Amino acid sequence: MLPFLVKWPERRSGKDMEDFRIGSEEHARLFCRTFVETHHPFRPQDIVWPEIDEESLARLKGLPVWDEAARTEAATAVKVQTLGDAETDPTLKEAIALQGYEEGRHAEIIALLTKNYGIATAPFGEPEKPKNPTWTFLRTGYGECLDSFFAFGLFDIGRRSEFFHKDLIAIFDQIMQEEARHILFIVNWAAYLRARKPLPLRPVFDARRAWNITAQAFDRVKGALQMAGGGNGGGEKNGEKAKGTQTGFTLKSHTVFGDFTLRSFLELCAAENERRLSPYDPRLLRPALVPGAVQLLLKVLPRNGRRRA
Ligand SMILES: [Fe+2]
Ligand SMILES: [Fe+2]
Repeated sequence: MLPFLVKWPERRSGKDMEDFRIGSEEHARLFCRTFVETHHPFRPQDIVWPEIDEESLARLKGLPVWDEAARTEAATAVKVQTLGDAETDPTLKEAIALQGYEEGRHAEIIALLTKNYGIATAPFGEPEKPKNPTWTFLRTGYGECLDSFFAFGLFDIGRRSEFFHKDLIAIFDQIMQEEARHILFIVNWAAYLRARKPLPLRPVFDARRAWNITAQAFDRVKGALQMAGGGNGGGEKNGEKAKGTQTGFTLKSHTVFGDFTLRSFLELCAAENERRLSPYDPRLLRPALVPGAVQLLLKVLPRNGRRRA
């Protein structure tokens, strides 16, 4: 099984927090070192896949995510690896290349899992290398920020309900934590890039970043609307985590996961997001957009939970 021991960076004092500046060399070293030092070295081919009974196998096969997950992880790996190849700063290069390796490992784990359990996936072509790797990484990374917030909550519901074998849960818990590290890296990397730009150019950066985040959010809303209408969903990454709407899966997951109000689901997502990001150095920035929007929404949502997630 996988090694799950984590070496977390040390907590810092209030004085360290005051002297720390976003965009400084120290900031870059910290977010890169945090990423590299919390990497778990293991080989996908060493994973011991648990034997599962017929019912568990049917549940696993019933998850309508495998095609999208295999395709998206492979595409993300190429996007991140291309930036890792292009980056000239050795500190950033090491961390970005390692993130590309982890995304490739996610793709490999999904390929091995589907092969091991006889889950058929549609073939897909070789992912294209991005023409502008910096902005492609930024766009993909913010997409991961949007997806991960909800994926953390959904994963915890699955974990608590023991919907899947505990060893499978452990493997995917590892992947979830890697995604938490990815989004921690992306928001710090983006803030570092912005801070290194001359002041007059920062509004241009902000506008382009806002445009990319909006495009990713729109992609997810479009996917959600298509799902609500019985379509196939969409989005660059959300299919991996949110296309759980095929009828059989929805019915089964309803009985196994139980009833969640929209409020309790969002509260769970917020708590899991906080938990997954809490071990890292407090001087590092955390994704703020989705957690902030959800906190606002929680202020207006009724407490008696008439609306259902
Ligand atoms: Fe991934
Ligand atoms: Fe990722």
